[in-house]
Amino acid sequence: MKSSTTEILLEKPENAEAVEELSAIAFGPGRFARTAFRLREGVASIPELSFVLYHQGELIGSVKLTRIKVGEQDSLVLGPLVVKPDFKNCGFGKSLMEKAVEAARGAGESHIILVGDEPYYARFGFEKVPPGNILMPGPVDPHRLLVCYLQESSDAVTGVASRAV
Ligand SMILES: CC(C)(COP(=O)(O)OP(=O)(O)OC[C@H]1O[C@@H](n2cnc3c(N)ncnc32)[C@H](O)[C@@H]1OP(=O)(O)O)[C@@H](O)C(=O)NCCC(=O)NCCS
Repeated sequence: MKSSTTEILLEKPENAEAVEELSAIAFGPGRFARTAFRLREGVASIPELSFVLYHQGELIGSVKLTRIKVGEQDSLVLGPLVVKPDFKNCGFGKSLMEKAVEAARGAGESHIILVGDEPYYARFGFEKVPPGNILMPGPVDPHRLLVCYLQESSDAVTGVASRAV
């Protein structure tokens, strides 16, 4: 990260409005129709695995992990990851991703899935899900459905992705 005035903290309830604003700027109203959103709809993200990034006192980044199921397996979906446009390409997204992945690994989670650009997420250990292995609850470009295995012992994830509750 760029400066010592940058810190990553667990997201608190009072951050919700600022985080939602970042998402609205990044994804617009269409965000509610995205398949990854539908998977998280009505399910709170995991407080211990959702982070905000402050830079010089301003909340400028966020990443969330939410519990889902894939088949019978407990799974996590990552998103949204968002950094305020004025602060792109400063390494803040990287810092948030590293924090989220390490926290999930430390919590003993098996894997994380997400829908996103492999050229960006590969650096954090994400790879394409083999076509057909995970069925999402809506249309997804198969090249953008990615998984990161967190443990040596993680089983390959296959099945229908669904909300955890
Ligand atoms: C994607 C996003 C979170 C990246 O955050 P960031 O803080 O700008 O990223 P970082 O500074 O950690 O990394 C920048 C690097 O990633 C690259 N990068 C950024 N987005 C990329 C993408 N979609 N595909 C490939 N590379 C990408 C940049 O070119 C840069 O490369 P470099 O290190 O070789 O110069 C941010 O651009 C954002 O909020 N975008 C809008 C929301 C979004 O698209 N979220 C992801 C959903 S898939």
